[in-house]
Amino acid sequence: MIIAVDGPAAAGKGTIARALAQHFSYHHLDTGTLYRRVGLELLKSDGDIHDSRVATAIARNLHAYAWLDYELRTEAVGAAASIVAGIPEVRAALLDFQRNFAEQQPGAVLDGRDIGTVVCPHAEVKLFVTASPEVRAKRRLAELQESGADVSFEAILHDILQRDERDRNRAVAPLACAADAVIIDTSELTTDEAIAAAIRTAGSVR
Ligand code: CDP
Repeated sequence: MIIAVDGPAAAGKGTIARALAQHFSYHHLDTGTLYRRVGLELLKSDGDIHDSRVATAIARNLHAYAWLDYELRTEAVGAAASIVAGIPEVRAALLDFQRNFAEQQPGAVLDGRDIGTVVCPHAEVKLFVTASPEVRAKRRLAELQESGADVSFEAILHDILQRDERDRNRAVAPLACAADAVIIDTSELTTDEAIAAAIRTAGSVR
Protein backbone atom coordinates (compact mmCIF):
# COMPACT_ATOMS: atom_id res chain seq x y z
CA MET A 1 0.00 0.00 0.00
CA ILE A 2 1.54 3.28 -1.11
CA ILE A 3 0.24 6.75 -0.29
CA ALA A 4 1.72 9.58 -2.38
CA VAL A 5 1.45 13.10 -0.96
CA ASP A 6 2.57 15.85 -3.35
CA GLY A 7 2.22 19.60 -3.37
CA PRO A 8 4.01 22.97 -3.34
CA ALA A 9 6.28 24.31 -0.59
CA ALA A 10 4.86 24.61 2.93
CA ALA A 11 1.35 23.44 2.00
CA GLY A 12 1.22 20.96 4.88
CA LYS A 13 2.40 17.82 3.05
CA GLY A 14 4.82 16.82 5.77
CA THR A 15 2.32 17.17 8.61
CA ILE A 16 -0.32 15.23 6.67
CA ALA A 17 2.12 12.51 5.55
CA ARG A 18 3.44 12.00 9.09
CA ALA A 19 -0.10 11.79 10.48
CA LEU A 20 -1.17 9.29 7.79
CA ALA A 21 1.87 7.10 8.50
CA GLN A 22 1.15 7.17 12.20
CA HIS A 23 -2.56 6.45 11.72
CA PHE A 24 -2.04 3.44 9.44
CA SER A 25 1.31 2.34 11.00
CA TYR A 26 3.11 2.81 7.67
CA HIS A 27 6.67 3.92 6.97
CA HIS A 28 7.16 7.59 6.09
CA LEU A 29 9.70 9.27 3.83
CA ASP A 30 9.96 13.04 3.42
CA THR A 31 11.64 12.98 -0.01
CA GLY A 32 12.35 16.73 0.17
CA THR A 33 15.07 16.01 2.75
CA LEU A 34 16.99 14.02 0.12
CA TYR A 35 17.16 17.06 -2.17
CA ARG A 36 17.78 19.34 0.80
CA ARG A 37 20.76 17.20 1.82
CA VAL A 38 22.28 17.43 -1.65
CA GLY A 39 21.70 21.22 -1.61
CA LEU A 40 23.20 21.56 1.87
CA GLU A 41 26.35 19.62 0.95
CA LEU A 42 26.83 21.77 -2.13
CA LEU A 43 26.44 24.95 -0.07
CA LYS A 44 28.92 23.61 2.51
CA SER A 45 31.45 22.77 -0.20
CA ASP A 46 31.44 26.41 -1.34
CA GLY A 47 31.17 25.12 -4.88
CA ASP A 48 28.87 26.32 -7.66
CA ILE A 49 25.29 25.39 -6.78
CA HIS A 50 24.62 24.75 -10.47
CA ASP A 51 27.53 22.29 -10.82
CA SER A 52 25.66 19.18 -11.95
CA ARG A 53 28.75 16.93 -11.79
CA VAL A 54 29.38 17.64 -8.10
CA ALA A 55 25.66 17.57 -7.25
CA THR A 56 25.28 14.17 -8.91
CA ALA A 57 28.33 12.76 -7.10
CA ILE A 58 26.83 13.92 -3.77
CA ALA A 59 23.41 12.44 -4.60
CA ARG A 60 25.00 9.08 -5.47
CA ASN A 61 26.85 9.02 -2.14
CA LEU A 62 24.29 10.64 0.10
CA HIS A 63 24.67 8.04 2.87
CA ALA A 64 28.29 9.14 3.34
CA TYR A 65 27.38 12.67 4.51
CA ALA A 66 26.39 13.71 8.02
CA TRP A 67 23.98 16.55 8.67
CA LEU A 68 21.98 18.13 11.48
CA ASP A 69 18.21 18.31 11.07
CA TYR A 70 17.93 22.04 11.78
CA GLU A 71 20.47 22.79 9.02
CA LEU A 72 18.11 21.27 6.46
CA ARG A 73 15.08 23.40 7.24
CA THR A 74 16.38 26.88 6.27
CA GLU A 75 14.96 28.61 3.17
CA ALA A 76 18.51 28.90 1.76
CA VAL A 77 18.78 25.12 1.78
CA GLY A 78 15.22 24.85 0.37
CA ALA A 79 16.25 27.11 -2.52
CA ALA A 80 19.46 25.11 -3.08
CA ALA A 81 17.39 21.90 -3.01
CA SER A 82 15.09 23.19 -5.73
CA ILE A 83 18.10 24.06 -7.92
CA VAL A 84 19.74 20.63 -7.62
CA ALA A 85 16.30 19.02 -8.01
CA GLY A 86 16.25 20.32 -11.59
CA ILE A 87 19.31 18.22 -12.51
CA PRO A 88 18.11 14.97 -14.18
CA GLU A 89 21.12 12.92 -12.95
CA VAL A 90 20.47 13.98 -9.35
CA ARG A 91 16.84 12.88 -9.60
CA ALA A 92 17.88 9.58 -11.20
CA ALA A 93 20.41 8.92 -8.42
CA LEU A 94 17.69 9.27 -5.77
CA LEU A 95 15.00 7.28 -7.54
CA ASP A 96 15.84 3.68 -6.53
CA PHE A 97 16.10 4.57 -2.87
CA GLN A 98 12.62 6.15 -2.95
CA ARG A 99 11.07 3.26 -4.89
CA ASN A 100 12.60 0.64 -2.57
CA PHE A 101 11.36 2.59 0.43
CA ALA A 102 7.84 2.64 -1.04
CA GLU A 103 7.76 -1.16 -1.35
CA GLN A 104 8.05 -1.75 2.40
CA GLN A 105 5.31 -3.64 4.23
CA PRO A 106 2.69 -3.01 5.41
CA GLY A 107 2.77 0.27 3.50
CA ALA A 108 4.53 3.58 2.98
CA VAL A 109 3.68 7.26 2.79
CA LEU A 110 6.03 9.38 0.67
CA ASP A 111 5.71 13.14 0.38
CA GLY A 112 7.31 15.34 -2.26
CA ARG A 113 6.65 16.84 -5.67
CA ASP A 114 6.65 13.90 -8.10
CA ILE A 115 5.63 10.89 -6.01
CA GLY A 116 2.25 10.30 -7.67
CA THR A 117 3.52 11.17 -11.13
CA VAL A 118 7.05 9.70 -11.40
CA VAL A 119 8.33 7.87 -8.31
CA CYS A 120 5.19 5.81 -7.60
CA PRO A 121 2.71 6.31 -10.43
CA HIS A 122 0.95 3.11 -9.23
CA ALA A 123 0.36 4.41 -5.70
CA GLU A 124 -3.06 3.30 -4.44
CA VAL A 125 -3.73 6.70 -2.86
CA LYS A 126 -2.59 10.04 -4.30
CA LEU A 127 -3.13 13.32 -2.51
CA PHE A 128 -2.23 16.76 -3.81
CA VAL A 129 -1.97 19.10 -0.83
CA THR A 130 -2.05 22.79 -1.61
CA ALA A 131 -2.82 26.23 -0.07
CA SER A 132 -2.61 29.86 -1.15
CA PRO A 133 0.94 31.31 -1.32
CA GLU A 134 0.13 33.78 1.50
CA VAL A 135 -1.10 31.06 3.85
CA ARG A 136 1.93 28.93 3.06
CA ALA A 137 4.31 31.84 3.68
CA LYS A 138 2.62 32.57 7.02
CA ARG A 139 3.00 28.95 8.12
CA ARG A 140 6.64 28.73 7.02
CA LEU A 141 7.37 32.05 8.79
CA ALA A 142 5.91 30.71 12.05
CA GLU A 143 7.93 27.49 11.67
CA LEU A 144 11.19 29.34 11.04
CA GLN A 145 10.57 31.89 13.81
CA GLU A 146 9.96 29.07 16.25
CA SER A 147 13.43 27.77 15.50
CA GLY A 148 14.85 31.24 16.19
CA ALA A 149 15.39 32.46 12.62
CA ASP A 150 15.16 36.20 11.91
CA VAL A 151 13.12 36.34 8.69
CA SER A 152 10.38 38.53 7.22
CA PHE A 153 7.03 37.53 5.72
CA GLU A 154 7.91 39.24 2.42
CA ALA A 155 11.22 37.39 2.10
CA ILE A 156 9.59 34.02 2.79
CA LEU A 157 6.73 34.71 0.34
CA HIS A 158 9.26 35.68 -2.32
CA ASP A 159 11.32 32.49 -1.72
CA ILE A 160 8.25 30.27 -1.81
CA LEU A 161 6.96 31.79 -5.06
CA GLN A 162 10.37 31.50 -6.66
CA ARG A 163 10.71 27.86 -5.58
CA ASP A 164 7.18 27.01 -6.82
CA GLU A 165 7.98 28.57 -10.17
CA ARG A 166 11.22 26.57 -10.48
CA ASP A 167 9.57 23.32 -9.33
CA ARG A 168 6.60 23.67 -11.71
CA ASN A 169 8.60 24.61 -14.77
CA ARG A 170 11.57 22.27 -14.71
CA ALA A 171 11.89 19.78 -17.56
CA VAL A 172 12.26 16.64 -15.42
CA ALA A 173 9.57 15.48 -12.97
CA PRO A 174 8.03 18.92 -12.37
CA LEU A 175 5.67 19.60 -9.51
CA ALA A 176 2.29 18.53 -10.91
CA CYS A 177 -1.00 17.16 -9.69
CA ALA A 178 -1.47 13.59 -10.94
CA ALA A 179 -4.68 13.14 -12.96
CA ASP A 180 -5.97 10.64 -10.38
CA ALA A 181 -4.97 12.61 -7.27
CA VAL A 182 -7.44 13.98 -4.72
CA ILE A 183 -6.78 17.68 -4.05
CA ILE A 184 -6.79 18.89 -0.46
CA ASP A 185 -6.67 22.68 -0.19
CA THR A 186 -5.57 23.43 3.37
CA SER A 187 -5.88 27.26 3.11
CA GLU A 188 -9.03 27.37 5.24
CA LEU A 189 -8.46 24.19 7.25
CA THR A 190 -6.97 23.71 10.69
CA THR A 191 -4.22 21.10 10.99
CA ASP A 192 -6.68 18.62 12.51
CA GLU A 193 -9.22 19.20 9.72
CA ALA A 194 -6.57 18.71 7.03
CA ILE A 195 -5.37 15.48 8.65
CA ALA A 196 -8.95 14.21 9.01
CA ALA A 197 -9.64 14.90 5.32
CA ALA A 198 -6.50 13.00 4.32
CA ILE A 199 -7.30 10.02 6.55
CA ARG A 200 -10.86 9.91 5.19
CA THR A 201 -9.62 9.89 1.59
CA ALA A 202 -6.92 7.29 2.21
CA GLY A 203 -9.27 5.15 4.30
CA SER A 204 -11.90 5.05 1.58
CA VAL A 205 -9.39 3.56 -0.89
CA ARG A 206 -7.62 1.32 1.56
O1 CDP B 1 9.14 21.49 2.98
P1 CDP B 1 8.98 22.17 1.64
O2 CDP B 1 7.67 21.84 1.00
O3 CDP B 1 9.27 23.62 1.69
O4 CDP B 1 10.12 21.60 0.70
P2 CDP B 1 10.68 20.13 0.60
O5 CDP B 1 9.57 19.15 0.41
O6 CDP B 1 11.64 19.87 1.69
O7 CDP B 1 11.48 20.17 -0.80
C1 CDP B 1 12.59 21.04 -1.05
C2 CDP B 1 12.81 21.10 -2.54
O8 CDP B 1 13.19 19.79 -2.99
C3 CDP B 1 11.58 21.44 -3.37
O9 CDP B 1 11.42 22.82 -3.58
C4 CDP B 1 11.81 20.69 -4.67
O10 CDP B 1 12.55 21.46 -5.59
C5 CDP B 1 12.67 19.51 -4.28
N1 CDP B 1 11.90 18.25 -4.27
C6 CDP B 1 11.69 17.62 -5.48
O11 CDP B 1 12.07 18.12 -6.52
N2 CDP B 1 11.06 16.42 -5.53
C7 CDP B 1 10.60 15.84 -4.41
N3 CDP B 1 10.00 14.65 -4.48
C8 CDP B 1 10.78 16.49 -3.16
C9 CDP B 1 11.42 17.72 -3.13
